[in-house]
Amino acid sequence: MPETKSEAQRLQNLWGGEFGDAYNERNKNAYDKRAGFWKKLLPELSVKSVLEIGCNVGGNLRWMHPPMEWHDIYGIDINLDALRRLHEEFPAINAIKAAAQNLPFRDGFFDLTFTTGVLIHQPEESLAAVMSEIVRCSKRYVLCMEYFADKTEEVPYRGHEGALFRRDYGALYRKNHSELSLVKEGYLSAEEGFDRLTWWLFEKR
Ligand SMILES: C[S@@+](CC[C@H](N)C(=O)[O-])C[C@H]1O[C@@H](n2cnc3c(N)ncnc32)[C@H](O)[C@@H]1O
Repeated sequence: MPETKSEAQRLQNLWGGEFGDAYNERNKNAYDKRAGFWKKLLPELSVKSVLEIGCNVGGNLRWMHPPMEWHDIYGIDINLDALRRLHEEFPAINAIKAAAQNLPFRDGFFDLTFTTGVLIHQPEESLAAVMSEIVRCSKRYVLCMEYFADKTEEVPYRGHEGALFRRDYGALYRKNHSELSLVKEGYLSAEEGFDRLTWWLFEKR
């Protein structure tokens, strides 16, 4: 019998392999402009610990010290080359190999959990479970920064089908997690280092 692979596994394999490695190399110098967003937001939230799900080479995490201590900054990813690059450049950040579907942390371990351009790469079958994991690991804030569309639409992505989806991620968090209330939302342009992302900041009650 032919082996049947889930869509989530197929995408994990894609990001964990050469496709993911090529992404790391292509984008390795793309993160300087992101400082402005983080240096403004983090002091407003007074958060002490953070987890980025799908942190890649730390294009976001590198901007979190200060105000956070390095040892309170965590990132997980399934691409080992990205984690190696992150560790080489920022050895004090906790860089861990894990899948978003199953985060290896206790409930409420972080003040803030977030994704930037990662939920867009989740298929329908695993999206709700990943979002639940992100909410579970946060004590206070959940930040979602993803490509927006009113109705879910697939976007062709570098020759791969079923690999990138624009959705109303803010509405999905609200629908499935009544414990979240919206604090603020916004949009980030390429000039700000984020390639036209919509963001939603939620507080957990
Ligand atoms: C488009 S990149 C975004 C990277 C980073 N968040 C940023 O804003 O620069 C997507 C990242 O998510 C990771 N990723 C994709 N699917 C994942 C999964 N199921 N679990 C953990 N990481 C995943 C990829 O390896 C890649 O590093």
